[in-house]
Amino acid sequence: MFGFLGKKTGSLVGVDIGSSSVKLVALSKNGKSFKLDAYAIVSFSPNAVVDGNIQDMTEVGSAIEKAVKVAGGKLSSAVTAVPASAVITKNIEMSNAFTEFELEDQIKVEADQFIPYPIDEVALDFEVIGTSKNSPNLNEVLLVACRKTDVDQREDAVSAAGLNSEIVDVDTFAVERAMSIIPADNDSELLTGIVDIGASTLTLNVVKGSEIIYTREQAFGGNDLTNLISQQYGMNVEEVEQSLRLGETAEEIQEGVVLPFRNTVAQQVSRALQFFYSSGGHGELVTLYLAGGVSGIDGLAGQLEEELGLNTQVANPFLSMNVGSKVNSARLVRDAPSLVKATGLALRGLEG
Ligand SMILES: Nc1ncnc2c1ncn2[C@@H]1O[C@H](COP(=O)(O)OP(=O)(O)OP(=O)(O)O)[C@@H](O)[C@H]1O
Ligand SMILES: [Mg+2]
Repeated sequence: MFGFLGKKTGSLVGVDIGSSSVKLVALSKNGKSFKLDAYAIVSFSPNAVVDGNIQDMTEVGSAIEKAVKVAGGKLSSAVTAVPASAVITKNIEMSNAFTEFELEDQIKVEADQFIPYPIDEVALDFEVIGTSKNSPNLNEVLLVACRKTDVDQREDAVSAAGLNSEIVDVDTFAVERAMSIIPADNDSELLTGIVDIGASTLTLNVVKGSEIIYTREQAFGGNDLTNLISQQYGMNVEEVEQSLRLGETAEEIQEGVVLPFRNTVAQQVSRALQFFYSSGGHGELVTLYLAGGVSGIDGLAGQLEEELGLNTQVANPFLSMNVGSKVNSARLVRDAPSLVKATGLALRGLEG
């Protein structure tokens, strides 16, 4: 399995470091059923994480530390992720006569040819997918590479919070895993979309069966809404985010700013879908799930369903899970769509 680091011991917690907040999810497994033991969302200032780079390690580390406390404390190891945009993936073919050790060496040689950074600055991982269609003596290998600094940043942030960094995954893989437990059409030929609208980025992933077949990011998110409210109503950004997240925004702001913004969100989602359809050859989506903080805007799913003519639902990865007694279930319904990525990371921690 993937991960730039991957030695799993004990139970792991999923930590999604977004551009506005840290989301932490702790899951456990009993037989085949999952349980949400605890979760936490802790915001940080807009300059702490910019374009997927952790600029203020102390602030992000403290946010993770606080999230661990909110979640109940006894967590020791974490799974984090680098953004898909920081990662290069490539399918290559390799002789199946190589031992694991030889394969690693050979993969470094191959990787050096298409990665635009010096190989000693690159974190590499790979997975043997199976026998190549071209020859029974070749294996198809999926290679995943990113800059070491991107991995190091995540490790440092987690360490600063007093946790061990056990696995650094890729966020697309986390979404793929989370989608496997979000009830979707089981038909492996049908396409399901999931659009994550965070503070600064809108990401559309399309899943077919259990695999993501398409990913695209747009620079758009809730920061636009937050800044607008902050300017017009003289509130600071933290206050605005808090009130949006808790559903405590004044009626006047809802009608004057949030509702008009909902139209902008709908346009951006529609644009993301147009890019997907014009990429060709995939067919039509059957369902669209909404994730990320912005999907909490009242009536967004209904508006999209009507405008796009597409079954649209707010994603809740916990619908089929047991929920621990300490979790506030009313809050969870609000927070669930923001926790999709963190849940996918926590699921990684439960894999054998
Ligand atoms: N109920 C709501 N209505 C509208 N906007 C909301 C609501 N709840 C949260 N938001 C907005 O969602 C954004 C945060 O979403 P999220 O936590 O998914 O972002 P992030 O993961 O930190 O960012 P990114 O994924 O872009 O790096 C903020 O801009 C916040 O204002
Ligand atoms: Mg996010």
